[in-house]
Amino acid sequence: MKNEINIGLLGFGVVGSGVAKILENHQEDLRHKLGVPVEIKKVLVKDQHKKRDTALSSDIFTTDLNEILEDPSIDLIVEVIGGTCEAKEAIESSLRAGKGVVTANKDVMAEYGPGLLQLADDNKCDLFYEASVGGGIPLIRTLEDGLASDRISALTGIVNGTTNFILTKMKHDKMSYEDALAEATELGFAEADPSADVDGIDAARKMVILASLAFSTEVLLEDVFVRGLKEIRDGDLELAEQFGYTVKLAGSAKKNSDGIEVAVEPVLFPNSHPLASVNNEFNAVYVYGDAVGETMFYGPGAGSLPTATSVTGDIVAACRNLLMGVNGKRPHAPQYERKVKSDETKLARYFHRIRVRDEIGVLTKLTAIYSSQGASLATVIQHSDKTETDADLIFITHQISRKQHLNIVAELNQTPEVIGLLSHYRVEGE
Ligand code: NDP
Ligand code: HSE
Repeated sequence: MKNEINIGLLGFGVVGSGVAKILENHQEDLRHKLGVPVEIKKVLVKDQHKKRDTALSSDIFTTDLNEILEDPSIDLIVEVIGGTCEAKEAIESSLRAGKGVVTANKDVMAEYGPGLLQLADDNKCDLFYEASVGGGIPLIRTLEDGLASDRISALTGIVNGTTNFILTKMKHDKMSYEDALAEATELGFAEADPSADVDGIDAARKMVILASLAFSTEVLLEDVFVRGLKEIRDGDLELAEQFGYTVKLAGSAKKNSDGIEVAVEPVLFPNSHPLASVNNEFNAVYVYGDAVGETMFYGPGAGSLPTATSVTGDIVAACRNLLMGVNGKRPHAPQYERKVKSDETKLARYFHRIRVRDEIGVLTKLTAIYSSQGASLATVIQHSDKTETDADLIFITHQISRKQHLNIVAELNQTPEVIGLLSHYRVEGE
């Protein structure tokens, strides 16, 4: 029986320094819960000479991963360096060295998760990744344990803190996109390359992780339909507000007998929808199960201590397994074969903002296009505070397929009076 557990911490940035703080500040509670002390024995960083605000001795900081892997007293590795190549190699080497791994790395888990989980099993090690989705919200464990007996049919929610922070600041504080992104970066929410956040890739990776677990099937990044914040045009947030909607970058995953569909895109939520009031870096995810019905999980989706809480929760779980000698005993293989639903059959309500020449008969011509494609319209409004010659028409459809939507877009683009389809959104929740 071990009388202490030693950790090799890879990375001491936003998340890594938070993990060190929690292990230090809550050490008595953790010792009580585990029965043994948990200590950080070594820390891997890129720059050993960087000034760091920590109670840890500078002697334990190193730039040599092998120093950590070859230390037999280190039981568990916590990977929070981020990125793909070096992080993946570090996780693989740790597992091969017989050391369990806790990671917050969605890039690695979304792309290489199944192989790494298998490697962990082969080496009788744990590989836990709670912090890879939803920051401080215990979502992975909820899907793996709490809802283990249920069949999950859908997930929908906000899974990226940075974009939610940006959209909140733009809407409520009238901040510019650039200033809001700079503040999210300053607060430690954004990825090292924030294009992963704003282009929807970070959220797509998280949806891959969630959908694979929820539906017990393989889901690849290429299966996710992704649109990022670039799709949002000037004036869209205000326009949405006038119609009683809030724009959110949302992830959704559904499963039925035709297969699974997974998407990340800016979506309009009615202001009465709970997701419309999830603000700043907070995340929230609805999980729909056949037996449980609708459940919702809400909390901080990014940031040092919230994310470190999830990492530390994984550390506790891995330590318990280590103390009981039962590491690497979770079945990971998916139950179902990968089956992805065709994009074209996906049903949704659409919001179209179309800039047209403000001429007699344009509205009739455009509504005829929707009718010819079998699309029924819920709302048609001319929004004419533009120039004297142009106007914006807003069309909100009833449910149509993506193929119908694309056909309408193609026809609109060939209509001489149409200057352009400025933006289009899926409309959720009614
Ligand atoms: P940071 O950029 O703040 O920190 C990265 C740390 O890793 C730094 O200490 C850096 O060293 C070290 N590092 C980077 N590359 C190497 C390398 N090649 N070799 C050795 N050390 C290296 O990142 P975060 O803490 O924000 O993110 C870490 C991980 O957690 C990422 O996978 C991220 O996606 C994930 N995550 C982050 C969240 C957040 O809110 N920030 C939330 C959820 C997950 P040095 O200090 O010397 O520069
Ligand atoms: N950049 C990520 C986000 C960090 O903003 O959601 C949390 O995964």
